Amino acid sequence: MNAPLDKPKTHDELELTIDNLAFGGKGVARRAGFVIFVEGAVPGDRVRAVVTHARRSYAEARVKELLNQSPERVEPKCRHFGVCGGCSWQTLSYDAQLRYKQSQVTECLEHIGGIHGFEIDEPLAAEPLWRYRNKVEFSFSPGDNLDLGFHLPGEWRRVVNIQDCLLHSETTNAIRNAVRDFARSTGLAAWEQQSETGFWRHLVLREGINTGEIMVNIVTGPGDFPDAESFAKNLMAAFPGIASLVWSVNDTRASVATGFPFTVLAGRDHIFEEICGLRFKVSPQTFLQTNTLMAERLYRKALEYAGLEGHEFVFDLYSGIGSIALLMAKSCSEILGIEIVEDAVRLARENALANGVTNSRFISGKVRAALKNIELDRQPDLVVLDPPRAGASKKEVQRVIELGAPRIVYVSCNASTLAGNAAQLAEGGYQLIRTGAVDMFPHTPHIEVVSLFERS
Ligand SMILES: C[S@@+](CC[C@H](N)C(=O)[O-])C[C@H]1O[C@@H](n2cnc3c(N)ncnc32)[C@H](O)[C@@H]1O
Repeated sequence: MNAPLDKPKTHDELELTIDNLAFGGKGVARRAGFVIFVEGAVPGDRVRAVVTHARRSYAEARVKELLNQSPERVEPKCRHFGVCGGCSWQTLSYDAQLRYKQSQVTECLEHIGGIHGFEIDEPLAAEPLWRYRNKVEFSFSPGDNLDLGFHLPGEWRRVVNIQDCLLHSETTNAIRNAVRDFARSTGLAAWEQQSETGFWRHLVLREGINTGEIMVNIVTGPGDFPDAESFAKNLMAAFPGIASLVWSVNDTRASVATGFPFTVLAGRDHIFEEICGLRFKVSPQTFLQTNTLMAERLYRKALEYAGLEGHEFVFDLYSGIGSIALLMAKSCSEILGIEIVEDAVRLARENALANGVTNSRFISGKVRAALKNIELDRQPDLVVLDPPRAGASKKEVQRVIELGAPRIVYVSCNASTLAGNAAQLAEGGYQLIRTGAVDMFPHTPHIEVVSLFERS
């Protein structure tokens, strides 16, 4: 029983060998069986690390010195690496990233979900590896400088003043920098959550990767937008790709950037993006997969798993602006989408019309309530689920089980909540047949997974 002796204390410095990556991205080291999660380390590294939090059954630590570097380590590409917490896996070779993502999917399903005996596809590698995001969200920081960028890890007041983020295009980087220059020139301060004063809050940029259309959404606290007309004119002239420039006002304490009333300063209140040959209208309020090119591969995988023959009645739960529903509509007889955000439902209907899809319907509401109230004269043949990161709630999964569809295709952006839902589906008589990771977010620990369940 040497565990009590070896249990580290906060501020201890330890020499550790990293042997794995934890779900969420930290390096894992073991010391006499005691697990230490090490930020900034990758498997194969030998490091000197300082313990930041010592808990009863595990500890957290931060790398102080790299003693011996892993053969899988690569040079970070981004100039903000080390300060910005954004792409914590960029020091790991891409092959290794994919390998760890794949094994984390299996581990989650087996250990959290208690599920075994399923087929796992080779993960779909991302293409391109950089500048792949179609949406980025920045915050203004209170203080003298009016910085604009991503929050420092774990800090809600300070941000990294981003000059060039390699996750999105050069054009949208230049737009962010121009908006920051303008905001600084106004002399107005950033919003202060404590005192509820100040003006500038967030900047959300969206770019249709297949259409070139850009949306700029500037989020402020209450007050007048300074020199709105000339600002809009100058920004539109400098960046002809901007199709929509909107100003949203968040007068709440919540530090979030979407879901608020907005005014169009120039252009339209929406942009278009094309996915799998379909054209989608996207508004500031609605969800769109953030990596367009990999979303196409994700959706095609979901379609393949769905195995539609043409006669099926399909449910698309958490349907957003209808992207999955409209793709599947061509291969089934009828599809019904359910989505909580009303504006997304409105756009899903418009998108159906614009793409000539006549066999889709969309209901606005929460999945749980909508499924409870719905009257069906036909049982669905397939249910597609694509919930947010938190997964579907227990009651939502229960309602899905009660629908009694022979097949379920589950699209997940969080393998651990997928695993919890998969366990409940298994109790409800569904067997996990096949699963496959799609890498939508290279250089980050995030994993997108598509899974096929069949009723046994
Ligand atoms: C991960 S997105 C998927 C959207 C769509 N399938 C796509 O690929 O673009 C999840 C969607 O679920 C919606 N949502 C969140 N909670 C919901 C709930 N309880 N009931 C219905 N929709 C919900 C969100 O507004 C969002 O549009």
